[in-house]
Parts: sequence; C-alpha cells; structure tokens
Amino acid sequence: MRNGIPRWLLAIETSCDDTSVSILRDGREALATVSQTQVAPHAAYGGIVPEAASRIHAEAIDSVCGAALGQAGVGMDEIGAVAVTVGPGLPGSLLVGLEFARGLAFGLRVPLVPVNHLEGHIAAAWLDVEEGPALPAVALIVSGGHTELVLVDGPGRYRMLGRTRDDAAGEAFDKVARMLGLGFPGGPAIQKAAEEVNDTPYTLPRAWLRGTSDFSFSGLKTAVRRLLENRLGPDESARILGGDGLYQAVDGDALVGQVALAFEESVVEVLVRKTVDAARAVGARSIIVTGGVAANARLRSEMRAATSIPLFIPAPARCTDNAAMIGLAGAWAMARGEANGTRLEIQPGMRLV
Ligand code: KG4
Ligand code: ZN
Repeated sequence: MRNGIPRWLLAIETSCDDTSVSILRDGREALATVSQTQVAPHAAYGGIVPEAASRIHAEAIDSVCGAALGQAGVGMDEIGAVAVTVGPGLPGSLLVGLEFARGLAFGLRVPLVPVNHLEGHIAAAWLDVEEGPALPAVALIVSGGHTELVLVDGPGRYRMLGRTRDDAAGEAFDKVARMLGLGFPGGPAIQKAAEEVNDTPYTLPRAWLRGTSDFSFSGLKTAVRRLLENRLGPDESARILGGDGLYQAVDGDALVGQVALAFEESVVEVLVRKTVDAARAVGARSIIVTGGVAANARLRSEMRAATSIPLFIPAPARCTDNAAMIGLAGAWAMARGEANGTRLEIQPGMRLV
C-alpha cells in the first residue's frame, strides 16, 4: 500500500463491445491485460447490438478476469482494490462490469472505484512511459462514441475545448465502412482499404468550423454517399445505400480504396490541424491522441509530422478500449478519495467535465 493505492489493483472495462480486465502494480504498471472483443454478432448488423453486447460480456467476464490474474501471477486474494468503468457507455454493458466488480469488491472486502471511461482514455497516455506528458497537455479523444479536445491540467483537472457537434470520428469510420461494404468494425477496414491504393482522385470536404475547436463529421458521411451515388448510378447505389446489400468490389476495382483513402485524408487532416492549433493556442507542453481512432496509422503519422510539441499516442492496443487505462484512471480516482464503497450506479451519459 502506497498513498492509499494497493500493491495490486484489478480493473474492469465493459462499456461497449470489449470485455477487458487488467492487473496493475502500485496503481501504475499494467502487468497483464486480457481483452476479448466482440465481432461476430455485431458484424452482421454493421453496428453494435446492445442486447447482444451485454449478454456476451456476461458470458466472458469471469474467464477474462481469471486469465488476467493468471497472466499476472497474482492471486484473487491479493487484490487490494477493484476499479470499474461506470460511464459513459451502453447501459446493459456497463451493468455487467459494475455488478461483477461489485461482487468481487464485496467478497474481497476491498474498495470499489468508479472510473469515467473518458478519463481512462486520457490516462492511457501515462501507461508504458518513463515520464508522462508534460502539463498542461491537450488531449484529443477520438473513439466510436466521442471526439473531444480536452485541456489536461492534471489528473481530474480537465477543461473541454471542443467536441463533435454530430457524429464521432469513429462512428463516421464505421458508417462509411458500411456504405463501402467493408464490414464492422469500420476503422481498421477503412485503413486497410486505403492502404491498398496509392492515390485517390477524390477530395472530400473538411468541416473546419473555424474559430472553434469543435468538429463535425456528418457532412462528410453525406458527401461519401453522394460520391458513391454519382459513381455507381441510381439503381446500384440505391441497392447498396438502402442497406439491402453491400457494395461488392470486383477485382481491379479501385473505387473502395480510393473513397476510403479520400475519407481518411479528410478526417485526419481536420483532427490533426485542429488539435495542433488548439495546443498552440493554449500553450500546451504536450499533445495526447487517444481512443480507438488513435490506432489509425495515418492519424498517427500525420500527427507526428505536424508538430514539434511532444506527442503521446498510446500503443494501438491501449488506444482501443482496454482495462489497463481504466486501472490507471482508477488509481488516480483513489488518490482523489473517490473509492466509493459498494453503492455505485452506472452513469451511461457521464461526461468528463
Ligand atoms: O475507444 P474505442 O475502442 O471504443 C469507444 O470508446 O468508442 O473506439 C472504437 C472506434 C470504432 O469506431 C473503430 O472503428 C475505431 O475506433 N477504430 C479505428 C481504428 N481502429 C479502431 N478507426 C480508424 N482506424 C483504425 N485503425
Ligand atoms: Zn473508448
């Protein structure tokens, strides 16, 4: 026990479609993280089916937890605190994680620590590094549900600089991937399709929303739809975009890759430029890029090329949802005195600030 942080902390993340458990040493080092991502039931629908997600979490959580303890070589009875995501996220999915965590904490008679998933994404920048981001930092959180620029003054000290006014960046990736027949989850599929072409004749719009740090991605989605309608003709595009079928790329057909690349270029350029501008405007000493979309190779490389401000982008497995980041944010919350007995509730609409 150091500063109230136990030697071994167990963290649980089930807010969306990843069932993840991590074991942290001294509230700092994620020794073992086991994650199980749900793909099959959601792929058929091109998006997450909440009822299926919570059922799969319930089936997976116990064995994922056992595997994480096994990998860390830590016994259940050595766990000194349990941290769990309480929001934001899908209610049914959050409930499975919270009730499992509550049972563990109650049985072990250890503190139960509520974690904000978005603070978890920020905390990811402090994992696996000797020295974390210098403060103040500007953090871009880009995930399936969120696109937010946050000023980070320290653990628990956040100020919202801007956010998306409509779709999250990851949501746009997922929707455009669906239009292109690339399946779910869309982000990795778009990245792969874009990598298969060298160039694209298409330029899609950028929503700059000048003078703000806000974002908008719904117009881009509509522009992709129009582009496909123009290229494919009314009948074929109605069939595809109506959701009855998916576009079947034929050999030598570069359309999918070219549209994917144009889309990625548009999203990445806006994310990079607005993040760097915001960091400069507030005099940030470092930049954090985190959340599922931060796993994107183009975003990572363009971000590196765009700024000399020290940049912290967690490894891809720490960008997408994982319990290691929840464990670290849980340790921060414990240090703030937020360990909360066993009377916790889920907060599906929870905000960062
Ligand atoms: O953070 P995350 O795992 O879950 C949420 O909190 O939402 O983010 C998931 C999102 C999905 O929209 C997924 O398509 C996107 O991150 N994503 C990517 C990549 N990998 C995951 N987007 C672009 N490129 C990727 N390589
Ligand atoms: Zn997330």
